[in-house]
Order: sequence, then structure tokens, then C-alpha cells
Amino acid sequence: MTRDVPKAELHCHIEGAAPTQLARSQALKYGVDINHLIDGERFVWQDFTSFLTAYDAVAALFRTEEDYALLAEQYLSSIARQGAIYSEVFTSPDHARNAGLSPQAYLNGLGEGMRRAKEKHDIEGRIIITCVRHFGPETAIDVARFAASIPHPLVTGFGMGGDERMGSHKDFAPAFDIARAAGLGITTHAGEVVGAESVTDALDHVHPTRIGHGVRAIEDPAVMQRLVDEGVVLEVCPGSNISLSVYDKMKDHPFAALKNAGVKVTINSDDPPFFATNLGEEYQTVHSVFGLSEAELRHTTRTALECAFVDEETRAALIAKL
Ligand code: ADE
Ligand code: ZN
Repeated sequence: MTRDVPKAELHCHIEGAAPTQLARSQALKYGVDINHLIDGERFVWQDFTSFLTAYDAVAALFRTEEDYALLAEQYLSSIARQGAIYSEVFTSPDHARNAGLSPQAYLNGLGEGMRRAKEKHDIEGRIIITCVRHFGPETAIDVARFAASIPHPLVTGFGMGGDERMGSHKDFAPAFDIARAAGLGITTHAGEVVGAESVTDALDHVHPTRIGHGVRAIEDPAVMQRLVDEGVVLEVCPGSNISLSVYDKMKDHPFAALKNAGVKVTINSDDPPFFATNLGEEYQTVHSVFGLSEAELRHTTRTALECAFVDEETRAALIAKL
């Protein structure tokens, strides 16, 4: 049973993790009509562009420190019940600011929610601050400066999400340099909606130790080899890739091919209620579709913990749980 496998998640956007029920109660609280956005337990959108728009609309429902505490507490508690022992959440101060919340209050709320989840479920959490690619390089520098300046004990990484089709990582290198100089771990989205050349672009310009998705490296053997040689870990989100039509069917997904080629892979949910998935289901899919045994799934969790943006003492304690 994959249910009993200890799990670690490195790639989940906190605004994209809001259950539809919580979104409904937030919408009621703020008098917003979101009926068009919800179908049962999932959010509705048509393609990558409208997914990003739906994401922004859900993010706009979280406006106070306590709203974010509730969201983080609910999310981490939900994956703890699925067997997760560690969670890194992608956070976006730009989205908080657009909803009228200061970046500091946003982090305070998230930190409080993670503290509550840890107290109840013994799940360790860390925060990755992300900039948004389609908000441009200048905004990204502001986000990086903020990330580099706040002494928050749970903030350990910096990354970038958003529309991969816009610009190059070269434009964002100054933002990543600021974050790296502050000691933050580096990850970035690449090779999701754009091909292997986008992975090369990320490796060349921002030198991440991990890549969000990165699955389209499979389209170029030289890029695959580079991932292997440089030990870069992929934060793979199979359900997200099917939902966003990166691949037609799960059996077409390159998870197994990447793993068999020696690329380090991890299992993640990305934006679970947008893609009708959750971390537990992603582990189950990797088992049932790609044939990973329970021992191999544990090994995948170990890979995630080995590259987690966390202090060595916590890392050792987490690995000991395996
Ligand atoms: N932001 C939230 N989810 C994302 C994804 N899958 N790709 C890029 N940016 C995102
Ligand atoms: Zn993502």
C-alpha cells in the first residue's frame, strides 16, 4: 500500500493548494462569486493561460494573515494524513500583495499555519519564495530582495513559476543571484510547457540544484545527460502534466524513462485541486502506472529529502524516519 510510504513534497504552490471548500468559504467571507471557477472538488480552466488566471482568482480570496494560516494548516495537515513527513511550499509575495497583504504578514500567516500542522501531525515544513515569470525581471528582483532580507526561520529557498513561454532565465539571473548570495536554495520551473531548450536555459543562467517539472528534458538526450552529470533533481508532477496536456495519457509520461536514465526524480502535486489530484494519489500513480515498488517509492522520498532546502540536522532526522 503506497498509503504507508513516508512522503516528501518539494513542489506545491500554496495558493494552488486551496481546497475548493476552503475557497468557497473564503469567497463567502469576502462576497465574491466563484461559482464559475469550481466544479465539485476541482477548479475549472481550459488551458495553461486560463489555468494561470484561475490561480490568480483563487489567490485573491486569501487576504489576511489568518487566511493564510488556515490555508497552510489545512494543506500540510491534509498531506500529513496521506503520509507526508516533509513539505516545501512555493509562496508568492506578489499574489499576497495583489490581495492587499504585506509580504511579511503573508509569511507570518503561513509560518503560523505550518507551526499548527507540525504540532498536530509532526510534519516538517519549509517555505520557498517564488517570483512570477510573467510579472517580469524587475518585480522578480524586488521579490528576491525581500527573500534575502527577511530573517524567517522557515524561508530556505527561492524559485520562479509563471508563464515559461515568456523571456529567458537570463533576464532573471540578477534576482536568482541575490537569493543565492543570501544562502537560499535555488529551484525554477522549466521544461513544463516549453521543451528541453528551456531546461538548458535555466541551467545556464540560474544554476538551480532542482528544476520544477523539467520533464521535457526527455526531448534531448544531451540535456538528460547534463541533468545526470550535474545531479540536478527534477520536481516531477505527473498529474499536473496530464491535466495541462503536456502529455496525453499517464502511460506517455516520461517519469520512468527519466528515472531509468539516471535522472533524479521526486513526486509532487503542483496545484492539487486544479488538477484533481493530491500527493497520495501521485505516489499511487507512480506505483500503479510506472511500476515503482514500495521500496523504490521510499527511495524517491529519500531523494527529495537529500535535496530538500533544510538544515542538516533536520534532514538527518527526516531521513531517519525512512
Ligand atoms: N504556478 C502555479 N502552478 C504553476 C505551474 N504548473 N507552472 C507554472 N507556474 C505555476
Ligand atoms: Zn509548479
